[in-house]
Amino acid sequence: MVKATVIGAAGGIGQPLSLLLKQCPLVTELSLYDVVNTPGVAVDLSHINTAATVTGFTPENDGLAKALKGTEIVVIPAGMPRKPGMTRDDLFNANASIVHGIAEAIAKNAPKAFVLVISNPVNSTVPICAEVFKKEGIYDPKRLFGVTTLDVVRAGTFVSEAAGKSQDAAKYQVPVVGGHSGVTIVPLLSQAKPSFSPDQKQVEQLTERIQFGGDEVVKAKEAKGSATLSMAYAGARFAIAVMEAMSGKTSESPEYSYVDLTSDAEGSKAVTEVIGSNTAFFSVPLTLGKNGVEKIHPLGKLSDFESSAVKKAVEALGDNIAKGVSFKANKL
Ligand code: NAD
Ligand code: LMR
Repeated sequence: MVKATVIGAAGGIGQPLSLLLKQCPLVTELSLYDVVNTPGVAVDLSHINTAATVTGFTPENDGLAKALKGTEIVVIPAGMPRKPGMTRDDLFNANASIVHGIAEAIAKNAPKAFVLVISNPVNSTVPICAEVFKKEGIYDPKRLFGVTTLDVVRAGTFVSEAAGKSQDAAKYQVPVVGGHSGVTIVPLLSQAKPSFSPDQKQVEQLTERIQFGGDEVVKAKEAKGSATLSMAYAGARFAIAVMEAMSGKTSESPEYSYVDLTSDAEGSKAVTEVIGSNTAFFSVPLTLGKNGVEKIHPLGKLSDFESSAVKKAVEALGDNIAKGVSFKANKL
C-alpha cells in the first residue's frame, strides 16, 4: 500500500520508470508530475491492468503539491540530460534550481517521504536537497538517496562480459562506491562476485569503462540525450528495494546509494577510516529498513589501485558537495 510519486515523469527516464512502477505490486497509487505532458502519460499507463491507480499532474492548479500530498516515496528524474562534450557538472546551472524547487515542495507537502534523486549532477543535487530539508527543519538523512544503482548495474554487465559470462550478467555483483560522475565512481573489482582474476590492464580498462559508461550512451545517442532505459531499470530497482524495506523485507545483498554518512554514524566509522573525513556524502553499501538507511557497511579490503581511486574520488566530491551547499546558502 504505497503512494509513489515520479517528478519529471514525462521525460526519457520518467516514462519507462513510471511504467516499471505501475507494474510493481507494492505501489497502489502512482502520482506523476512534470511541467508538461503528464496527463497523457498517466491515461496511457492507467490502461494497464495492474493495481496502482495513476494520476498525472502539471503545474496548473497547484499540481506539484497535489502530486506530493500523502506520498511515501518520491523519485526525481527531472531536469536536463547531457549532450556530447558535457560533464554532469555542466548540468548544474540548469538542474540545481529545478531540484531546489522540487525539494522545497517535498518539504512542504511530503516531509516524511523517502526521496530518491536521479537528476544530475547527483554529487551536488543530493546536497542541495539536504540543505533545503535542513532549512525547512525536516531533514532526516536516512530518507535521502542519490541513485547510483546504474553504476552497479553497468559494473555487473561489463564484468560479466569481460569474464566471458554475459549470459550470467544478473549473477554478477560488483560493489561501486564514491559518487556518480567520472573519477568519483569507484568500482571495487577485487570484490566482484563470482570472483574473476583480471590482469592490471583489464582492471584499468574496466574501471574506466564503468566510470565513463554514461559517456558511452551519450555518444551513441548522438546529441539526443543520455541513458534513459537502463536508468529507468536501475531507478525502479532501487525504488522497489526501498519499498520492500518499508514493508519489512530485508534484502540479502546490500544496496548502494549516495547518502549522507551521518545517516548511520556508527556504521560509517569503518568507511571514514578508509576514505578519511573529507566528504559528507559517499555512495556506500547499505542495508535498508523501514526508516530508510538502517546500516552502512564497511567498504571491505581495497587493492592499492582502488585505494588511490577512492582518494581521487574524495577530492573531486569535496568540490561537488560544496557547490551544492553554497547554492542553497546563496539562495537565502
Ligand atoms: P529528459 O529531458 O528526457 O526528461 C526530463 C524531464 O524533466 C522532462 O520531461 C522535463 O519536462 C522535466 N522537468 C524539467 N523541469 C522540471 C520541473 N521543474 N519539475 C518537473 N519536471 C521537470 O531527461 P532524462 O533523460 O529523463 O534525464 C533526466 C535527468 O536524469 C538528467 O539530469 C540526467 O542527467 C539524469 N540521469 C541520471 C542518472 C543517474 O544515474 N543518476 C542516469 C541517467 C540520467
Ligand atoms: C549516466 O550515468 O548514464 C547518467 O548519469 C547520465 C549521464 O549524463 O551520463
